[in-house]
Amino acid sequence: IEETLVLVKPDGVKRQLTGEILSRIERKGYEIVDIRKFTPERELLAAHYAEHEGKPFYEPLVEFMLSGDVVAVRVAGNRVIEGFRSLAGTTDPTTAAPGTIRGDLGRDWGLQVQQNLVHGSDSVESAQRELGLWFG
Ligand code: GTP
Ligand code: MG
Repeated sequence: IEETLVLVKPDGVKRQLTGEILSRIERKGYEIVDIRKFTPERELLAAHYAEHEGKPFYEPLVEFMLSGDVVAVRVAGNRVIEGFRSLAGTTDPTTAAPGTIRGDLGRDWGLQVQQNLVHGSDSVESAQRELGLWFG
């Protein structure tokens, strides 16, 4: 059975959308295997977002992710990696399709970083690496 890492980012937690997001995951038929809520340390975020280091949005992204609690979720199911990416919608919440988490619940707040409510691993390799970082 495949597993993925889902993060409810600080904007989702602050807006009290955690239940709504977890509910969409469960209604799709995926299983919540483990869940933790905490404010991540810079070191964890640097490892998580290593592929984006040097990009213009990298520092604002890390600062945003440090700004409050995150809910980290281990989610299981057949093809859950692509399935959750589909549920989440595309990166920019302004144009993410209606019916998706980002498309229904997100928008542009005029900030340096796109606050788009959730993260989902994008491949089997990323999922294994990220689950190791967030769940040890
Ligand atoms: P994640 O599931 O969070 O990894 O999102 P993603 O896979 O859709 O996007 P990606 O991994 O490319 O980027 C990680 C995060 O950086 C995004 O979720 C956004 O918060 C932010 N980001 C990515 N691209 C841009 C961009 O072009 N501009 C800005 N301002 N932020 C961006
Ligand atoms: Mg990504």
